[in-house]
Amino acid sequence: MKKILLLGNGAREHVVAETLKRSPQETEIYVVGGALNPALRDLATDYLVEDPCDLEVVREYAEKIRPDFAIPGPEAPIAAGVVDMLLEIGVHSCAPLQTVARLESSKSFTRDLLAKYDIPGNPMFKIFYSEDGLEEIFDELGDDFVVKADGLKGGKGVKVSGDHLNGREEGLAYARECLADGDRVVVEEKLVGEEFSLMSFADGSHTVEMPSIQDHKRAYEGDTGPNTGGMGTYSDADHLLPFLVEKDVEDAREITSRVLVALKEETGVEFKGIMYGGFIVTSRGVKLIEYNARFGDPEAMNALPLLTSDFVAICEAQISGKLDEVEVEFEKKATVCKYVVPEGYPDNPCKGDKIEVGEVPEGVKAYYASVDEREDGLYLSGSRAIAFVGIADTLEEAEKLAQSAVGSVSGPVFYREDIGTAELIQKRIDHMKEVRG
Ligand code: AMP
Ligand code: GLY
Repeated sequence: MKKILLLGNGAREHVVAETLKRSPQETEIYVVGGALNPALRDLATDYLVEDPCDLEVVREYAEKIRPDFAIPGPEAPIAAGVVDMLLEIGVHSCAPLQTVARLESSKSFTRDLLAKYDIPGNPMFKIFYSEDGLEEIFDELGDDFVVKADGLKGGKGVKVSGDHLNGREEGLAYARECLADGDRVVVEEKLVGEEFSLMSFADGSHTVEMPSIQDHKRAYEGDTGPNTGGMGTYSDADHLLPFLVEKDVEDAREITSRVLVALKEETGVEFKGIMYGGFIVTSRGVKLIEYNARFGDPEAMNALPLLTSDFVAICEAQISGKLDEVEVEFEKKATVCKYVVPEGYPDNPCKGDKIEVGEVPEGVKAYYASVDEREDGLYLSGSRAIAFVGIADTLEEAEKLAQSAVGSVSGPVFYREDIGTAELIQKRIDHMKEVRG
């Protein structure tokens, strides 16, 4: 019997728990999450409703249950040092120690690391600790720039010219605002191309990648509206996205494996856990947008349901440095994930309203995120509510399945109908053709 401590309470943690339960090994899952996720509760042996960033609470709970290992889902507890704290009491995690978790929690750290170790993938960039030279970089970059607050900002720290910032003056003002907040700021070239997510398991010296996935950050159809945590994602049966070529993924994989080695050289600490690279294919090849040090949400819901190997063994191999000795196989199926979110999401989401979920069709998986279960049913609690994942032999079928499920939810909600459709995918292919020239 393996006892596993799982931190977090979203759809990502739901699919992590489900995948652990599919392992041929017997497991008991213990959850610490900020809210009670009804689906996660049904999979858990015990569930403590507390903030997983509260290290004292997690320590006390872990000392009581003595898990074999821990899986912290979200970035916040990882950046807060929960992995370091657990290690102090002898519990290993499938997530990085704070020093190497800077791969996600500090954008300047990652840009510097790639530059110092001569790893390809950086755009033109500069890091600022003060306003010295700030005006000059905007002169140099012209109209196409991105300004990034250094630390974790829940997806709100990155502002892109043309999207969130109009012209040099607004760029300068936002960079000054970040500096005034006491943060470092990264100003970089705006890259043009198609983005994809490549998540890899990492054990300190080996990486094994998952299928490539495309996320949709904008709230509304046709990639309009405010940025969100991700409205939906898709992956194709050959594990390559329709607009990618083999070499794009190879290049991304090469960047990730070199970053893993560089992390150890730079810090003396091995990165164990998930390296989730956000890449973009540009006219000058594959570039790195950023790394996350955890599973993507929704990307985890595309990848993990396809895993046919023993997830518990993979977690243990990440910790012991023996990823090269375990089997990591994903089924050759296409997936389309669509999130149902409250009306008004992300800026003014409605909360506390009741929703009804219809029968979930065969071939579709439903993963609960921000929903509150009361005696008379499910209620919205203000963020992405339920992710529906269609899994099939082709993207077309997977999209139809996901669509039939999201369409069955009634209440004050919306979702993106266009995710995974042939029309939107063709747009990506055409765009990529144009970019590649
Ligand atoms: P993040 O919050 O770090 O995930 O970044 C949000 C989004 O900002 C990314 O998914 C990209 O679409 C965009 N972005 C970040 N850096 C760049 C860049 N250098 N060029 C173009 N877009 C970028
Ligand atoms: N899919 C975006 C994220 O997990 O950060």
